[in-house]
Amino acid sequence: MTNLLRYIIRKVKVTINQKFPNIEKIFMLRIKKNSSNFKELIDYSLLVFGYVIIDDFFCESDDLFRSLKSKHLMDLSLNNLDQDNNYLGGVCKTFLDLIGGKDTKKKSNNSTRKLNNEIELKELVRLPLIYETAKRFFHSDNLKIDVFQTLDTPNSNHSAQDPHFDRIPTLKFMLYVNDISIDNGAFELSASTNHWVKRTFPLPRPAYDDLEYFKKSRELPKPIIDNLKPIEGKAGTLIIFHTDTIHNQGLVNNGQCRIIRSHFRKKDEILNKKNNFGNLKKLIKNTSQLKFFKSNL
Ligand SMILES: [Fe+2]
Repeated sequence: MTNLLRYIIRKVKVTINQKFPNIEKIFMLRIKKNSSNFKELIDYSLLVFGYVIIDDFFCESDDLFRSLKSKHLMDLSLNNLDQDNNYLGGVCKTFLDLIGGKDTKKKSNNSTRKLNNEIELKELVRLPLIYETAKRFFHSDNLKIDVFQTLDTPNSNHSAQDPHFDRIPTLKFMLYVNDISIDNGAFELSASTNHWVKRTFPLPRPAYDDLEYFKKSRELPKPIIDNLKPIEGKAGTLIIFHTDTIHNQGLVNNGQCRIIRSHFRKKDEILNKKNNFGNLKKLIKNTSQLKFFKSNL
């Protein structure tokens, strides 16, 4: 499907939602922080629909949000567009294992640079609404947290723009840093598709770098694609979703799309099989070590 056709389809869906707001209430689950049974609503929505949207997670005037936003604007600008082939036309900066405190330098490349807003990001992921939700979801507090900050532009061209499920199942908290609409890259989700993915691809899933698995994560049934809906929202909106729910980053036609994504996984859970090539390398290494060991007996 061409980008133009996808844009037209999304525009029609938004127009229908605007003309018939009740339809949006039925299909897109949006809640406010003062909703009754707030926690239960979040847990239930994640389980049943695979996502939930909190419209008033931050106000523009909240100190933490202001700080996160100003550093996002400073750190991710059109002047330092990423040369990384994985994020063409945009910028993606990553903080790996934010709370675990692992050294990220070894993994550094164009898309994984150490950021200068570590304190604010730690404060963000430790907010009860985020951290406690993740703990309840995983029934564990042994969690690994990675944070991705992105800037997308009309020139962005990367794999997250195609509908998919993530090859490594992850719970994500996606914070809109600016007002995001259909025109500047609203994120898209196909509700309740987490059930189809869970049944079709039971754990442990194939290795992350298995090419066939990558293709399968993007070859999706038509009804799932047809039900993708853009999520427009003001700056400060939080989308919580499990990545088994089919999703894609929206295309930017005008302006910019600024997002902070916090990724949560349970540390000790085996989600993917080991790569066969990696196993082979390990076997060769072990065999040569065994030979060396034997020759030194
Ligand atoms: Fe994804």
